[in-house]
Amino acid sequence: MAERTPLPVVALISGSGSNLQALIDAQLRGAPIRIAAVISNRADAFGLERARRHDIPTEVLSHRDYGDREGFDAALGDLIDRFAPGLVVLAGFMRILTEGFVDRYQGRMMNIHPSLLPKYRGLHTHQRALDAGETEHGASVHFVTAELDGGPVILQARVPVLPGDDAAALAARVLEREHRIYPTAVRWFAEGRLRLGEDGRPHLDGTPLRAPCLLDDLDARESEAAI
Ligand code: GAR
Repeated sequence: MAERTPLPVVALISGSGSNLQALIDAQLRGAPIRIAAVISNRADAFGLERARRHDIPTEVLSHRDYGDREGFDAALGDLIDRFAPGLVVLAGFMRILTEGFVDRYQGRMMNIHPSLLPKYRGLHTHQRALDAGETEHGASVHFVTAELDGGPVILQARVPVLPGDDAAALAARVLEREHRIYPTAVRWFAEGRLRLGEDGRPHLDGTPLRAPCLLDDLDARESEAAI
């Protein structure tokens, strides 16, 4: 069978870039993606260094150089489009996006969020889950819509909240799962198995998802390919 042309992916980051690393590792293991560029709004983001180590082009576009969100997002979109991505991945990109920007990448932009959406949109998700006495927490991959952390959820991973957990311990447990679900969802998209349907739902293998997929329910072949 003919090899699939790798899907060009642009990753947007603001910090450590451990999710970016998980995607780089997936590419190295043969996922049909090509990380075409990594763009950060912060020059000191460690994820830029991760990209450089793999000869992935990097760009820094500081939001401080723009007077308003619209101006920054327009410049960001122009920069992204220079790399002609089939998919834009938000990998710890800590910016609220304008509707215009989100529309530009409708159906081809994903985000990973450290909670079991729709619970705990926004910041400080781990502390909020602890404060609420949750016994379970996790992470979600979703298509991006104009509603902050409100887009249709594709894949989630659940973790237990354990006695004695603080926010850092819980975040570390969740992050380990993030590194499995993000490459899995990106690979599904790159393989043409996943798309955002006209009905606003993710469609996997031609079927609209009635509920998000769960990492624990994936068969061994699927999840093994992700790690
Ligand atoms: C991850 O936990 C990601 O889910 C979260 O930021 C962290 C980035 O870590 N994203 C958000 O909170 C977006 N709402 P990383 O830079 O090591 O991938």
